[in-house]
Amino acid sequence: MRDLFILGIETSCDDTSAAVLHNNLLLSNIISSQEVHQRFGGVVPELASRAHQQSIIPVVDQALKEAGIAPSDIGAIAFTRGPGLLGSLLVGVSFAKAFALARKIPMMDVDHMQAHVLAHFIQKPNIEYRPPSFPFLCLTVSGGHTQIVRVDDYFSMAVIGKTLDDAAGEAFDKAAKIMGLPYPGGPIIDRLAQQGNPWAFPFAKPSIPHLDFSFSGLKTSILYFIRDRLKEDVNFIEKNKNDLCASIQHTIIEILMEKLVMASRETGIKEIAIAGGVSANSGLRNAFLNTAADRGWKVYIPEFAFTTDNAAMIAITGYLKLQRGMIASQDMAPYARGNL
Ligand code: KG4
Ligand code: ZN
Repeated sequence: MRDLFILGIETSCDDTSAAVLHNNLLLSNIISSQEVHQRFGGVVPELASRAHQQSIIPVVDQALKEAGIAPSDIGAIAFTRGPGLLGSLLVGVSFAKAFALARKIPMMDVDHMQAHVLAHFIQKPNIEYRPPSFPFLCLTVSGGHTQIVRVDDYFSMAVIGKTLDDAAGEAFDKAAKIMGLPYPGGPIIDRLAQQGNPWAFPFAKPSIPHLDFSFSGLKTSILYFIRDRLKEDVNFIEKNKNDLCASIQHTIIEILMEKLVMASRETGIKEIAIAGGVSANSGLRNAFLNTAADRGWKVYIPEFAFTTDNAAMIAITGYLKLQRGMIASQDMAPYARGNL
């Protein structure tokens, strides 16, 4: 493939992001997180798409500037096609289509969940890094998904376990909301948990068959537990915030790690990665490293900037698609739901 610059665009949820690659090397990755949702305790779809409209041009501009290139230098464009919020996706898809048409360059449509996995193949200039080798397992844990993916090749992936209800990130965010913490609650629980006792409040774990997950029961038991304690002491949350966060986080991590261990045992695969927003969690990272040491796994943990939604992962997936001639046509439409 000839030498070229690729622009990546991500607008699936509440982060507007643009990244520039020089072949497979990342030159810039700009992420603008929308703050308008904080006071609503969750993402408001209509506000998200409006905010993407406002930020897409400045974010792309910034990504090009940081990469030191002009729009005319871009040789291909990659964008998130789905899954995500349709109104949000449409902003990125329309931008990419218009850009590709105006500049007469190829465009590549990217599946957001596949991109979270392929974030492990991002390379940076002058930094030695060896990506996972095939086959590997990837625990993809985000605000919308919780999956164990068996990855046999870049575009040969199978979901071998998934959540039957809420995602792990949702469990963090809903637990935070119950405690009166702002959205998104995952990073806040992570921070407060570091000062708390993970065994202070034991929450029951669900018994879900095989490699699937469930988090809705945990949310309900946290809700009832806190509601009952508040009847005895109105300051219960305030007095026990760190212990509550540590205990909730510990339970979510145990649920995730148990299934990942089972998946490794069943498939015999010991090359294991984590991805998605929740893979930024310090407790999960530690549990992952400890389990790896116990079981002889070779593990891959993404850089923080590549865990939550970002365009670098979209651009690298686009690069890999372009190499294989997987080009999108102008009549393709975004999708809200769907699997790998
Ligand atoms: O991958 P992502 O940015 O967006 C989706 O595709 O959903 O993931 C966002 C999710 C949110 O639920 C957020 O609370 C969670 O990732 N998250 C965390 C942490 N950082 C982000 N959860 C726990 N600990 C963190 N440090
Ligand atoms: Zn995501």
